[in-house]
Formats: sequence, structure tokens, C-alpha cells
Amino acid sequence: MAFTVHDILYAKRKGLKHSSEEIKSLVNGYVAGDVADYQVSAWLMAACINGLDSDETSALTQAMVDSGETIDLSSLGGTTVDKHSTGGIGDKTTLVLVPLLASASLTVAKMSGRGLGITGGTIDKLESIPGFSVNLSKEQFLDQARRIGCVVAGQTANLAPADKKIYALRDVTATVDCIPLIAASVMSKKIASGAKTILLDVKSGSGAFMKDIESARELADTMIDIGRAAGRRTIAVISDMDQPLGLAVGNSVEVAEAIDTLKGNGPSDLTELCIELASLLCNAACPENGISRTQIEELLSSGAALLKFRQMIEAQDGDSKVLDDTSLLPQAKFSLSVYAKSSGYITAVDAERIGRAACLLGAGRSRKEDQIDPTAGVLLRKKIGDQIEAGEELAVLVWSGNISPEPAVLSAESAFSIGAHAPESKPLIQDKLGF
Ligand code: URA
Repeated sequence: MAFTVHDILYAKRKGLKHSSEEIKSLVNGYVAGDVADYQVSAWLMAACINGLDSDETSALTQAMVDSGETIDLSSLGGTTVDKHSTGGIGDKTTLVLVPLLASASLTVAKMSGRGLGITGGTIDKLESIPGFSVNLSKEQFLDQARRIGCVVAGQTANLAPADKKIYALRDVTATVDCIPLIAASVMSKKIASGAKTILLDVKSGSGAFMKDIESARELADTMIDIGRAAGRRTIAVISDMDQPLGLAVGNSVEVAEAIDTLKGNGPSDLTELCIELASLLCNAACPENGISRTQIEELLSSGAALLKFRQMIEAQDGDSKVLDDTSLLPQAKFSLSVYAKSSGYITAVDAERIGRAACLLGAGRSRKEDQIDPTAGVLLRKKIGDQIEAGEELAVLVWSGNISPEPAVLSAESAFSIGAHAPESKPLIQDKLGF
């Protein structure tokens, strides 16, 4: 049956369900330039208000996948896996998990994004390794995955281009924080990237997109449904992002912390998350060949995962000497400490405020074209539950640019709450879904 763009917009305004043909025609028309920005903007707002059900969300995802190239990983032969984090402060999990999974004989051919907002994305972090190249041709990308089992590169421009165009509109029409639109956006890129098994790390808390566990669960369930409808084994965890993950927030400082973790000297929360995610992903991808938690721990303690990271850095033209001496990573010119004004226990370290401090120091970008300062960031000295004396260091701010650090100092200071008693500890992994 013939329908017009007007019909599609009117249907969603009235809260009616779209057919997949309607969604496909809207997305294809937009990419082709036949549907205008203002029409898609109106549809996005109606979709946010009236919702999209699971069929519509899957149809939107598939239309965005089909708008560009898809990566066929079947020629790699091995068990292909991918992981996605919805983003959090100090989240350098990918830098540890990718080589760890490769050392467990899984294949991780991962496309990653740059950060927009508080700190850099995985690609920005990797670029702080001198020489490291994230711009690989499709052939280089596949060849490296085949040879060493892991590769992390920047997303090609033609991966889900409809998502790119629609995301730019969402950004300026107050339609980013809408669960079906986020789920379709994330999953279109994961599905186009080709892995057979996908692990979603959905963050929940002050430093995350999803501020509470209920919305984190809803996002995870929606993404699991989309992945399964597309024939991918998809599982999810909800992990805590009320305080930053690990102690380092920034770019080169996070790479240094990831290296420490691959050497078995990382902060306990980051180490625990990486071991748990690796174990869940290995067992989901190869249920018939289960791998124990102890075996995963051995891959870290034996140096096998670190060796994979070395191979990956060298294959991507980076200086792997940073693994032996992290002072070869870009170092900040300036530093300033933030001190406790009272004694007691740390009861909160607001992740968003720490992230904002890092961004103000130059670790993030507010516009796509902004340059980041790879050395900028925040090094936490205390986390929730730690005891502190007045005058003790809470955090150290580091940066190299010509900036005034006062706003960052205020943001970092206000992130810490100190009380008379240690709070009850919260589990890092709050839920597991899709198992
Ligand atoms: N990340 C994405 O890729 N898409 C969204 O919509 C939100 C976060």
C-alpha cells in the first residue's frame, strides 16, 4: 500500500504502530535526501513521546544497518565476539578486555567511536599511545583479526550512515535520551560490525546515560531483543557507574591504568569487571567449551593478555615500549591536588562531576571538531568507603593546555562527600540479563 512521509508522521503522532516498510522508507528517504530534516525531527519527537515497540525498534535498527556496509567476519573462522559499553567515567574496560579475550582464543574485531562529551572514547585513549593508528582499511582490519585475534579501529564512515545522520538530528532536537532510539543506534553499529556474540555493559548511576537501574534494565532488554532478532547471541550486564571505574579518568592516564591491570596491578573494581565480563563472554560464545574464572585470571597473571596487547599495539604501528614503561605515554605538564576539608569516610564520588572536571581540563570534547589534550584527567586517590583525614589528598588533576583549572577544581571537590560512617558497599555488577 502506498503511504507518504506525512502518513508516517501522522501515524506516530497518533501512537499507531508502523510497519517495517514504513520505517524502511523513512530511513532510506532520509539518507537519500528525499525526506527533510524537519520531517525526521518531527518523527523522532513523536517516537520519543509515543514509543516504538520491539518490532518497530528492530525494523529501525535493520534499516540503519542496511543503509551502509556490513563487515563480514565469517572468513576469520574463529569465534567472533564484541562488547559494547554504554559509556561511563574512567571506563577503560575495552583496553583490557579485548586482549584478554584474544588470549582466550576468541576473535575480537572491534570498531569503536571517539568520545563526545565528558572524556575521550576508546579510540581517543588508544591514540595516546605514540604512533598508534586507528585508521585501518577493511583488509588491514580483517587481516589483523585473523593473525592475532584482536583489532580495535575507528568506525568507518559507511558503517550505519543512517544512524550518524539521525544521531546528529537527535542531538539538536532533545531526542537522544529515548530508550528505543538509543538501543537501535547502538545495535545498528554492533550488528553491522559482524560479531556473532555481543556483550552489552549497560552502566547505571550518576556518571551514566541511564541514571537508575530500572531504565538501565529496560535499555539492556531492548538491545538484547534487537540482537536476538538479528540472529546474534546477545547478553548484558548492568554495572555501577555511581563512582568512576578505577582511579584514572582521562586518556593517557587510563591507558596507563589499563596496562597496570593487564600486569595484574590494576584497581580492584576494574580488574573484577574485566575478569567477570571476559568469563561471561567466553562462556556465552562457546558454551560447549566453558572457561573457568580461574583460567581467565591465569591469562592475566601469566602475561598472555599483555602479550596480545603488545601484538595489537605493534600491528597498529604503536610504540609497544609503553607497556614496559608507562612514562613513555604523553605526560601532563601541570598538576594540582584537591584535599579533604574534613575527616571521616568517603560516602560518594559523583562520577559525573569527576568526568566534568576531566573534560574542563581538556580530556573531552564538546564539539566533534575539538582537540583533546591526551594528558588531561583526574587521578582519584580515594573511592567510596575509604577513610580520610582532613587535609589528605582526594584527587590530583593533571593537564598540559593553557587553561585555568579553577572550574575543574570546583567540580572535582564537589564530587566527594565525606560522612561519619562508611556506606554499605554496592555490588559492581548489579544484574545480568539474557543468560
Ligand atoms: N551511543 C550511541 O551510539 N547511540 C546513542 O543513541 C546513544 C549513545
